Amino acid sequence: MASIRETIRQTHQTLDQSGIPDARLEAEVMVMTVMRMTRQNIFSEQESEVAAHQAQELAGVVAQRLERVPLAYILGYREFYGINVAVTPDVLIPRPETEGIVEHTLFMALMGMETRELTIADVGTGSGAIAVNLAIHLPAARIYAVDISEPALDVAAYNIRAHAVADRVRLGHGDLLEPLPEPVDVIVANLPYIPTARIPTLQPEVRQEPPTALDGGPDGLDLVRRLLAQAPAKLNAPGIILLELDPEQFPAAEATARQHFPNAEITAEQDLTRRDRIMVVNRGPGFDE
Ligand SMILES: C[S@@+](CC[C@H](N)C(=O)[O-])C[C@H]1O[C@@H](n2cnc3c(N)ncnc32)[C@H](O)[C@@H]1O
Repeated sequence: MASIRETIRQTHQTLDQSGIPDARLEAEVMVMTVMRMTRQNIFSEQESEVAAHQAQELAGVVAQRLERVPLAYILGYREFYGINVAVTPDVLIPRPETEGIVEHTLFMALMGMETRELTIADVGTGSGAIAVNLAIHLPAARIYAVDISEPALDVAAYNIRAHAVADRVRLGHGDLLEPLPEPVDVIVANLPYIPTARIPTLQPEVRQEPPTALDGGPDGLDLVRRLLAQAPAKLNAPGIILLELDPEQFPAAEATARQHFPNAEITAEQDLTRRDRIMVVNRGPGFDE
């Protein structure tokens, strides 16, 4: 039997030799998981032995990872904006850059867009990562979480229940804004925005995520364009849209937004690498568009 330290070292080496990115970090997370220990404990107890059944469980995790199954799918969850979100291969694994949507929406809501109860639509909710976080941090808001994929909505439903926000998050099945029963104050969306031709060039892990969560059509903007076309009838005034995009897509997306919201203020928020990541369309009160 090997110690925790030696097991992490060997796991790191195996992953690294197979070209798995962030191999050391993943090795630590795998060992933490099979040992049912916190990060702090695997270091403070690094000379403890890994039991045979734990080593066997670890071997199973490593084998799947060498098949390039994303670690979040193997573990069944991903941390997002401070909470654990359950994920399955039916949903996109929430990405760190998407935390920006939550952060900016909270900032705008808490800046007091209105004192009344806000209504928010999270379009293309997937795991429900954005909707659940908004519900946790905005206890007076009512949230619609919409997706075209029924299996994704099952995962979202699980996360909504697990985080005890089911009383304020309503699920909707259908195309973009169509399932909304009323216009809302805020529309947030991380829609598929990868151009179709780029999909085969993505890392093998990403290609295991659902195609309906990735493929945005020839220039990646098919869904964004359709959402912006539907939005004038589904967004209150004042109202705000926040859309996650690829930095290169901003000029085209802004031109489309301008077409549908000629009087809106349109700005870009940057991600941690200081690249434009979120397009914010701010429709003021009483604009006649
Ligand atoms: C990039 S994923 C985002 C998932 C989640 N919001 C997140 O940020 O982790 C895009 C989601 O949009 C959904 N979707 C794709 N086409 C759609 C459509 N026409 N109407 C509603 N949702 C759609 C996909 O099923 C997928 O769950």
